[in-house]
Amino acid sequence: MEKLMISGGRPLQGMVSISGAKNSAIALIPAAILAESEVILDNLPLLSDVAVYAEILEELGAEVAWEGSQMRIDPSSIKSIPMPNGPVKKLRASYYMMGAMLGRFKEAVVGLPGGCNFEPRPIDQHIKGFEALGATVTNEHGSIHLHAKELRGTKIYLDVSSVGATINIMLAAARAKGATIIENAAKEPEIIDVATLLNSMGAIIKGAGTETIRIEGVSELHGCRHSIIPDRIQAGTYMIAAAATRGDVLIDNVIPKHLEAITAKMQEMGVLIEEFDESIRVKGTPSYEHVDVKALIYPGFATDLQSPMTSLLTQARGVSVLSDFVYSNRFKHVPELVRMGAKIRVEGRSAIIEGGRLNAAKVKAADLRAGAALVIAGLTVEEGVTEVTGVEYIDRGYDHLVSNLRMLGADVWRQSE
Ligand code: EPU
Repeated sequence: MEKLMISGGRPLQGMVSISGAKNSAIALIPAAILAESEVILDNLPLLSDVAVYAEILEELGAEVAWEGSQMRIDPSSIKSIPMPNGPVKKLRASYYMMGAMLGRFKEAVVGLPGGCNFEPRPIDQHIKGFEALGATVTNEHGSIHLHAKELRGTKIYLDVSSVGATINIMLAAARAKGATIIENAAKEPEIIDVATLLNSMGAIIKGAGTETIRIEGVSELHGCRHSIIPDRIQAGTYMIAAAATRGDVLIDNVIPKHLEAITAKMQEMGVLIEEFDESIRVKGTPSYEHVDVKALIYPGFATDLQSPMTSLLTQARGVSVLSDFVYSNRFKHVPELVRMGAKIRVEGRSAIIEGGRLNAAKVKAADLRAGAALVIAGLTVEEGVTEVTGVEYIDRGYDHLVSNLRMLGADVWRQSE
């Protein structure tokens, strides 16, 4: 096990290039199962979750060749094999195996997902969608068993506009008979990315990115080549880190439109931001104003940036209120930030943050974004070394984190625990 050591107090300066989106990648890889020939994914992030997904596909008999940021997946010899255990258990997003296998084989057995553990995360909307398409779904000894004689298109209204359920239903419906309409669909950019891949594979999906998605089922899908969108959460994390350290960083390979909510909030605080076609420059200033932030579904402020934003708000004057309306209790970073001297209290769905200096401490990342929050906090500390354990969570979502931060002038290194 390794830990991250951070000797903070240096403004981040320079340029960082953002890799492909994790939350797209881990939906696009299983989507490739639906094709009958090779799918090539470009701009893939180098993350442990991606490696686990490659393992899952190989277990089913797919040929997977991963080199740098490109993965070639040949699913032509894939078989329907039950997956109650093994790599599926390492990954929450292995729930996409349900939609993908159901779409291709009309059956699947998938062990219940693991993954980030900040709160119970139900999959009832995924199951509601599969059942509406004609599948029988049962939970047997911790594995979800799905089976359908045939999948038939239908209208599905999601009670919550879930990213995972929207994508999972698209995967299964792409090869169903007839048209499926998802109402109250999630609108996140990753959903558009998955629809783009599926359409390049021969699917007929319209409306991705709006709350109504229409999927005209087809009997067969073919291989294609697709480049993954940039990771907006990774980009937002570097934006926050740049501002928190009062640095000046050009964040390259981004889609500025995907970053509108975080950009607007940071500008409201007094951070200087310049937008270009495919990059964003973030320049810190000596003093920031407190702001209130509400994490909402897209295009609102991303819940995945809520924890990193907490660290930035400790650097603002006065009291900020940060509320999360996507997850009710995603505040595992708060007690750790408090160990670093932050004045934060959690009330219901909100963290109330009083600005002030942080000090070095030994802290533990309890999930991926909590880890990012602690790294940012450590970067602001002027004296001493902050030690962050739980690096395995951070590695799930930020590739080349240490080398990127070092390139930006931070004094950060990994050390064995
Ligand atoms: N929900 C239900 N029932 C469901 C599905 C979701 O009640 O069947 C609830 C959840 O409990 C939550 C809300 O709906 O309160 C939204 O959950 P959603 O399904 O949209 O989240 P997800 O698909 O499980 C993805 C990302 C998360 C990100 C959320 C929200 C992946 C693999 N994960 O999760 O990313 O927080 O969307 O944007 O795409 C992360 O990257 O750190 C991360 C956790």
